[in-house]
Amino acid sequence: MAKIACIEDLRVLAKRRVPKMFYEYADSGSWTESTYRNNASDFARIRLRQKVAVNMENRSLASTMIGQDVSMPVALAPTGLTGMQSADGEIKAAKAAEKFGVPFTLSTMSICSIEDVAENTTVPFWFQLYVMRDKDYLGKLIDRAKAAGCSALVLTLDLQIIGQRHADFKNGLTAPPKPTLRNIANMATKVRWGLGMLGTKRHSFGNIVGHVAGAEKMGSLAEWTNEQFDPALSWEDVQWIKERWGGKLIIKGILDADDAKLAVKSGADAIIVSNHGGRQLDGALSAIEILPEIVKAVGEKVEIHMDGGIMSGQDVLKAIALGAKGTYIGRAFLYGLGAMGEQGVTCALEIIQKELDLTMAFCGHRQIDEVTSDILIPAEKVFNPYLG
Ligand code: GLV
Repeated sequence: MAKIACIEDLRVLAKRRVPKMFYEYADSGSWTESTYRNNASDFARIRLRQKVAVNMENRSLASTMIGQDVSMPVALAPTGLTGMQSADGEIKAAKAAEKFGVPFTLSTMSICSIEDVAENTTVPFWFQLYVMRDKDYLGKLIDRAKAAGCSALVLTLDLQIIGQRHADFKNGLTAPPKPTLRNIANMATKVRWGLGMLGTKRHSFGNIVGHVAGAEKMGSLAEWTNEQFDPALSWEDVQWIKERWGGKLIIKGILDADDAKLAVKSGADAIIVSNHGGRQLDGALSAIEILPEIVKAVGEKVEIHMDGGIMSGQDVLKAIALGAKGTYIGRAFLYGLGAMGEQGVTCALEIIQKELDLTMAFCGHRQIDEVTSDILIPAEKVFNPYLG
């Protein structure tokens, strides 16, 4: 097998090994995908300042996120249907994160349930919550995360309604996939994936099926969210959730300085600057583009995390330089998972760690927590062919 050098190599392999429907679920944004593309391309526009002849010995990427030790400030983002990229995918990813010393965040829309992941790991993970109309079920879901020892609740506020991802619409995305001729023909070419799936019973939404009446007949993800997610979600609901949970609360999906202030008022321990990986409002600013404004507005009052477009250690460093205390990778670890299971997630983390470590050193730093915006080239000095 060819050597894996970067996240892009994992993506190419995942595309070969994962059924089209699930690969495309991960690798897509909403509508024209402009925000999805800009998340990555805006990172690429940021230039770093090289320093030479500075001591580069004894470097450390160790830091904290919401007071918890992390071996580098990179958590695994909550991603739906992770167990469809590879059998028992959430358990595999959680194990890889645990061994690496970074947080794993389990999505509400996971295939493995909260209890499945808790039984198969030894350190607490984080649980991401979607707000459903059924408050009785929502309360019980929070209690289940508490009972499983989850050490943070990541409350997503930007998906009360779902943006259309054309690939999911065309592929008729469901979990498990419907046994149509097209699906069967495609899955038959993914032998490694299929053998894995034959070896597990976890094929549908583990946190939901068996806990919500009628969920057995759950149609597409889009139908489910339209029926079950609460379009009337408000900051009062956030209060109710905070009280019911009683632990560390991270609010995800902030893209506006005024909303960031409201999140601080709601008592969040951290906020995640995020446009949901470019999967919701097409045309929204990229996450890295809005990050400095949000840091300016609330950076003194709350810990700021970000996700969206991180495909390398260089990207992580740029986010940290712009004021993020922590970052999340979604697709980058999903590609690893789809390509090579748990080993692939470890590989993705190792790639990012190595890139982050070397890039930090090239910029003249030995401790990630000491990195500031000094490592960035100011905009007016960046080559711009239009300004001369
Ligand atoms: C959420 O579950 C998504 O598909 O973005």
